[in-house]
Amino acid sequence: MLSLWRREGAGFGDEGQAIHCTRGCHGTPESWRDNVARLVEGNPSMMTAVAAVLAAPLIGLAENDGFGIHFFEQSSSGKTTTANVASSLYGNPDALRLTWYGTALGLANEASAHNDALMPLDEVGQGADPHSVSQSTYALFNGVGKLQGAKEGGNRDLKRWRTIAISTGEMDMEIFIATSGRKVKAGQLVRLLNIPLCKAVCFHEHANGKQHADALKAAYQQHYGAAGRAWVKYLADHQQDAVAAVRTAEASWRSLIPANYGEQVHRVAALEAALLLGRIMTGWDEQGCRDAIQHSYNAWVNLFGTGNKEYEQIIEQAEAFLSAYGISRFAPLDYNEKYTQSCRIPRL
Ligand SMILES: Nc1ncnc2c1ncn2[C@@H]1O[C@H](COP(=O)(O)OP(=O)(O)OP(=O)(O)O)[C@@H](O)[C@H]1O
Ligand SMILES: [Mg+2]
Repeated sequence: MLSLWRREGAGFGDEGQAIHCTRGCHGTPESWRDNVARLVEGNPSMMTAVAAVLAAPLIGLAENDGFGIHFFEQSSSGKTTTANVASSLYGNPDALRLTWYGTALGLANEASAHNDALMPLDEVGQGADPHSVSQSTYALFNGVGKLQGAKEGGNRDLKRWRTIAISTGEMDMEIFIATSGRKVKAGQLVRLLNIPLCKAVCFHEHANGKQHADALKAAYQQHYGAAGRAWVKYLADHQQDAVAAVRTAEASWRSLIPANYGEQVHRVAALEAALLLGRIMTGWDEQGCRDAIQHSYNAWVNLFGTGNKEYEQIIEQAEAFLSAYGISRFAPLDYNEKYTQSCRIPRL
């Protein structure tokens, strides 16, 4: 079994599952940097996606939980390009790509096969059932499989994993799940960060977004896999430095993020630490890395809001209930029999 950071019940891709976490290798770490990473620099969403893939083997070292980023935007805005650029760190993006189309249990099995690794989940809208996506988001980032009895008695081994997912789609995940008539639970959105994709703005030597996207595609089809292997080796050789970088980033974000954001400190800090350490792979400018994470964080906050999501949902539900049933279930404090009678629906 490929085992990255040994932990009870988990390894780098579990036995019994196809190990997709690293697929194929073409080119060198340097050719990936000069051809793929170079064209990504200056584009905040693409850089954040690269941060997420760099963070995938790092969060296990730092004992942080898994999480996902969902990039959404309309068609032909570069969502798949962004996800592919990021997964090219570890292998051939086309071979690595997974889909939301499946059951929660199926995705949990994939997650177990992608322990300490990346799960690229492209295009949530395509055929995926919002209800199973809703269940999957919960299962995926909980990091623990379903307890199941074994045929021969007792229980099957409980699967555990820690993974980072990059998801894409045309809709915000909350809206997508709501299309099934379900409400997203606060805990799900805390684990899967909804970020509106920022289209590429820095085209380098290319004339426009289309040419830039096409050049990136040509680049990641030729250069993939080698940089990811070098990155994992670097982390293995510098474990203490890597954990220290995450702790430093956490301390700095903790002073910037309101206390009621709680867990988000670990996620944004892991992304920033990964991007800063990962400069040995990308060659990117330090301030540019910090700016990219700040840009994506701001985009997420803009959407998610600054309040406590759990409290907000309780208040929203209470308000919705009162607006729907108000006078039929509650009488105004200054009780007036005539007023409530006039509001009753007359008997048919
Ligand atoms: N920033 C951009 N500006 C202009 N055109 C772009 C841009 N990004 C991508 N494209 C064009 O759109 C095509 C599809 O790109 P990509 O698959 O990344 O988009 P997508 O957002 O995933 O679209 P879809 O919703 O259709 O899956 C590219 O081949 C390119 O021609
Ligand atoms: Mg696409």
